Amino acid sequence: MALNYTKKTLNHFLKPKNIGEIKNADAYAEIGNMVCGDQLNFSIKVEKGKIKDVKFLSFGCASNIATASIMTEKVKGMSLEEAKNYDWNKIVSDLGGLPQQKVHCSIMAVQGLKKVIDSYEDKKGNKEDHKGKAKKKVVKKKK
Ligand code: FES
Repeated sequence: MALNYTKKTLNHFLKPKNIGEIKNADAYAEIGNMVCGDQLNFSIKVEKGKIKDVKFLSFGCASNIATASIMTEKVKGMSLEEAKNYDWNKIVSDLGGLPQQKVHCSIMAVQGLKKVIDSYEDKKGNKEDHKGKAKKKVVKKKK
């Protein structure tokens, strides 16, 4: 049975945006789904607390590619906090809908984005607020 994809989903599948891997990225992350076996790899460049660039590699289905493609397009230029709040419902509405059995692909895309942002923040050793200013890292002394 053929799945009912929107024209926008098919366009992002056939001509994906932001595909590839950023050389010297600020952070990398991969995420996979044990049930369907699909995988996404993300790389990001961050400047002044905003996503300057984000790319992905897909080892998955048409929805895997389309959801990651539209998500990377939408979050480019967002602050890290805004990007973390871009959720799977937004991907589905931005694509004009997704077949029910493919909604998990959008969930994996946002989980992968959050993972690469977390990886960036962990690497920096501190978190940035929404204005891009680094918060002081609090180190507690062991008693
Ligand atoms: S079928 Fe699992 S990510 Fe698409």
